[in-house]
Amino acid sequence: MNYPDSLVADVFQRSVGFKLEGFVPGQGPLQPKLMIVGEAPGRKEITNFIPFSGQAGVELMKCFDSVGLTREEVYITSAVRSRPFSVKERKNKRTGEEEIVTPNRTPNKKEVLAHAPILDYEIKKVAPRLIATVGNIGLQRLLGPKYVITSAHGKIIQHPILQLDAGQEKYSWTKNSYTIVPLFHPAAVFYNRKLQPLIEEDWRVIGTLLQ
Ligand code: URA
Repeated sequence: MNYPDSLVADVFQRSVGFKLEGFVPGQGPLQPKLMIVGEAPGRKEITNFIPFSGQAGVELMKCFDSVGLTREEVYITSAVRSRPFSVKERKNKRTGEEEIVTPNRTPNKKEVLAHAPILDYEIKKVAPRLIATVGNIGLQRLLGPKYVITSAHGKIIQHPILQLDAGQEKYSWTKNSYTIVPLFHPAAVFYNRKLQPLIEEDWRVIGTLLQ
């Protein structure tokens, strides 16, 4: 998606001081069958500007396949549009030299708030019929901290969503309700293989809603 320059400039300004790099625009059609709201891009995504194009994306595409969706039919975005990283010093196992590495990390609440104007803009513009959040960050960005993925996954939730209020520093609820299905993040299976059947079951809920 092409955003107004002033909107991107505002989000960059709000992000000053955070360890965030790059910027990946959301991708997909307006009024799609499904909108995915993830967490934040990783290293691969900030290089090729394609959301979910890394390992997690491979898993996500399998899920799309399972309900007969293609990437082109889905609008894909995330709560934060830049890569959150940490800075760590470690010894290189091969050379024995000290080196600095910058692994991905989960975005914090302030970073999600800093990037909120972009997601608010997208949701209004894209007007999705159905939103699937993947992981806790996207879920809590839209529905607040009372919702947790371990209990909310696979449920069909009709509810207003959180958007920035006029003061731009906290959220308030939208007037309209949206249909939201919280899903596990596709990368969750890399850490816990036992989630696979639950993920498949949750995607069957999406499949039924799409019919
Ligand atoms: N996780 C996300 O939330 N977005 C990406 O683009 C990649 C991984």
